[in-house]
Amino acid sequence: MYDELNRFCYNGHMDRRHFVRTVVLGFGAARLFGQGHQPPINCAPPSHGAPKHITFDARVPVLPRKSVWDLNSGELARLNAAYQELRNLYTKNPNDPRGWMQQANVHCFNCSGGYDPSNVEIHGSWWFMPWHRCYLHVHERILGKLIGDPTFRLAYWDWDTYPSHAMLPPPFVPPGPLFDQFRGAGAADVIPSDITGQLAMQTVLGTQSTAGFMGKLSDPSNNQYYPGALENSPHGPVHIWTGDANPGQSPEPTGCYYPTSDPSGPIVDQSPNCLDMGVLSNAAQDPIFFAHHSNIDRLWDVWLGMPGSQGNPKDAGWKDQRFNFFDENGDWVYMTVADVLTSNEQSNLRYTYQAPTAVSAAKSHAPKSSKTALKAVKPLMIASAAEAIAVGTKPHTQSVAVPLEHQQNLKLLAANGKNPATHYVLHIDGLTVPPNEGVILHVFADEPNASRETKLGASFVGTFSVVPTGHRDHEHPIVRNASFELRPETAALIAAQKSLTVTLVPKLANGAEPKKSNLTYKRIYLSVE
Ligand code: C2O
Repeated sequence: MYDELNRFCYNGHMDRRHFVRTVVLGFGAARLFGQGHQPPINCAPPSHGAPKHITFDARVPVLPRKSVWDLNSGELARLNAAYQELRNLYTKNPNDPRGWMQQANVHCFNCSGGYDPSNVEIHGSWWFMPWHRCYLHVHERILGKLIGDPTFRLAYWDWDTYPSHAMLPPPFVPPGPLFDQFRGAGAADVIPSDITGQLAMQTVLGTQSTAGFMGKLSDPSNNQYYPGALENSPHGPVHIWTGDANPGQSPEPTGCYYPTSDPSGPIVDQSPNCLDMGVLSNAAQDPIFFAHHSNIDRLWDVWLGMPGSQGNPKDAGWKDQRFNFFDENGDWVYMTVADVLTSNEQSNLRYTYQAPTAVSAAKSHAPKSSKTALKAVKPLMIASAAEAIAVGTKPHTQSVAVPLEHQQNLKLLAANGKNPATHYVLHIDGLTVPPNEGVILHVFADEPNASRETKLGASFVGTFSVVPTGHRDHEHPIVRNASFELRPETAALIAAQKSLTVTLVPKLANGAEPKKSNLTYKRIYLSVE
């Protein structure tokens, strides 16, 4: 066993949490890496001691993170200079934890679907929002330090504001420090409006429950994960779109740039479905990752300010969680979730979000002030099988008769539902895909002929996605439990019918039909919670 551990984390370091998790997952590790495969790709951090609490410097000015489109020429030059220094540092000293590839590996190492399944998985759960906020903060401090400018702030890619912003921001397009050769989207490509358009954004930001928006605590030992609405979409689809905006194009852009501990240097993998932003293990090698995530981070704040938002988790177990990073001085530090909550964004993190020039349409969602409690009713099972049910590449429909008690309850939600005390939630449990397969799935209710062309409207329930995690030496499937709060207009539609149909529409990021699908699920049901 001990040998195996050494092989597993072969740069020789492991802190206690990783040790415990590795022992627990030891069998899987042996299966994945122990049988004559080539060594795992190493994205573990350089060695370090015990982490100290990060220091926050109150003398650093509080300054805005702006939309990339709102940067003036000086700010653009500074952004380019910072990423140039990040790349230079990696070239000069590949082991400096602050350099470009080491920064990207922080992300790789923290998705267990990447190259070290012993490590914590910060996707598919309520760790998603705070972990990425911590990561952005240290990344911002490192960039600022490298250019000797404590006033440096990241810029965000607001794909959700103007339709003209649902494209690669121009500064990231030409070859230069902000460019990435393993990117599928080009200057002329546009993100489809069913991913970042008005109704899609209203649905995501209109999600009221904490678990619905933030996700829930995952249970890695049972491979149970619960992503929130924003992680599902647009977060995932924008990753996939940026990685490979036009799958099927000829020639198909291919390739990932993998770091290895092999002294002969990095390898370029020519597999398709492997472009940086489109694969979690590689995504942060593309500087646009940080602009994408700054927007996700901004939308977390937007959601907290939405009428009806039930706010962050209250659990101490969430707030006290620590995440470890190398800071701008190369010191190994930890941050807690409480350190980075909205109330501490200015005092600790020293930034605000300067609103983009267009105000998110989602703000128009005004609630009624009265709280409607839905009746506690038994969940309505829509599909369930002991064996997994295959979704396939075409729209997939299930239906069930709607019992009277649900009809009445749905009418109640439809009539008074802008601000209910409880919600109707559509669950799809046990969604399972191999680790190298991406998924974008639109979910519709009472739209039995829903297709890839269906415009989002009252029947739109939400979008589920999986960003491929990485494909080398991996056999463990990705499992997700999706949940979607029903909007009042959707409830009205269902209440008016005797039966409820749920249609799952798989599509690629460019709207085309997937060439293959290994996606399965266990059950679909509707419940009040
Ligand atoms: Cu950690 Cu956008 O993924």
